Amino acid sequence: MNLFDECAPDPKYCSDPFPYLEQLRKATPYFFNEQRQAWFVSSYREVARLLGEPRLDVSATSFADQSPVFRSAVVPRLRAFFARPDPTPFVELIERVVQGQLQRLLEERRADLAQLSRSVPVGVMGEMLGIPQADLKVLQELSSHVLRAYDLSWPGGPARFPKPTAFLDAYFGEHLAAARKGSATPLVSALLEAQREQKLSEASIVEALTRMFDAGQLSITGCIANVLEWALSSSAAAESLSHSFAADPRQTIDELIRLHVPVLASRRLAREPVETTNGTIETGQRVYLLNSCANRDPQAFSEPNSFRPGEARKAHLGFGLGHYYCLGAPLARLEIHAVLTHFLPLLGKIRACGPTIWRQSWLIHQPDALEVLLN
Ligand code: HEM
Repeated sequence: MNLFDECAPDPKYCSDPFPYLEQLRKATPYFFNEQRQAWFVSSYREVARLLGEPRLDVSATSFADQSPVFRSAVVPRLRAFFARPDPTPFVELIERVVQGQLQRLLEERRADLAQLSRSVPVGVMGEMLGIPQADLKVLQELSSHVLRAYDLSWPGGPARFPKPTAFLDAYFGEHLAAARKGSATPLVSALLEAQREQKLSEASIVEALTRMFDAGQLSITGCIANVLEWALSSSAAAESLSHSFAADPRQTIDELIRLHVPVLASRRLAREPVETTNGTIETGQRVYLLNSCANRDPQAFSEPNSFRPGEARKAHLGFGLGHYYCLGAPLARLEIHAVLTHFLPLLGKIRACGPTIWRQSWLIHQPDALEVLLN
């Protein structure tokens, strides 16, 4: 298998891409794939450098509106919203959603943890944006196509919607109009306020809503599923996770994110040529910054493949770095915290009752199915 070629990824790669990515990093931090005419950057140093490189444009992982007025009026407002000093309202909301899901597991004694990992973030984002419960399932399905569009394609691969966000934008356009007339949630109000003050276009704000809905559930879903899969994989993993979470939840959660981010790369497009140690990234070429691989670089982290939350570590790149640093990181940490609080005590009673089905994907590493029984 040639890494990232226009062919289906090998099942072994899908279940554990890290040995392959490690080989790539050892061979070169800058790999150019001829078939895709795209660069794959794998070392911590170079990924960190290029995450802040202004000659590389961000697109798929940020807002469509990159105008200075949007970046200075909307993005800081959203950052402040999610990083509020008193997170109690978020904690209560997340708690309600997680308990609802847990209740089902306790009653039915059987669950697909991949499915359950999807329900928590979509429930949280749904309430934050004021989306009726009845609409969530179809919106979530549409959103999954956005994630599929982010992946590398190959002939015969999963079918793709031509413009997966178009349907979501149409929905959120109506949602915004209704929110303006009726009652808007604090998150939607923050966007409406920024729009009024800065005279931002309707399209920008609608896209921001779609983006929040997508970003607010896609990565976190995979992260929760990966963490639960790992915790169930051995009693040693379960034990060390339980101990470290009890001792220092914050460090534990960040170490889990370092190791278990599902979206393996941040995508960029070269606006101008960028020199590298292995040639020049030419204008118009795509660049995949493999944050997940950089997070396991031995030059940056000792025993990089091991879960070692007590260690003084460099900042991981799971949430990106610099200008586009994930603005939902505080919320993501709270969601993982709530899931671990409720699931760790159950771990000894849960056992897998089928093989983990890993997503067939080059850039998204997460289980699609993880069936368990509760004793
Ligand atoms: C474990 C969960 C999450 C992970 C691993 C994650 C990862 C990331 C990464 C790597 C970036 C930077 C992308 C780049 O540089 O191209 C990013 C940006 C972003 N994330 Fe997250 N994210 C998570 C959860 C969330 C949540 C819950 C939200 C929403 C509340 C969110 C909203 C965003 C937004 C809006 C951006 C773009 C920021 C900007 O343009 O300045 N993310 N995320």
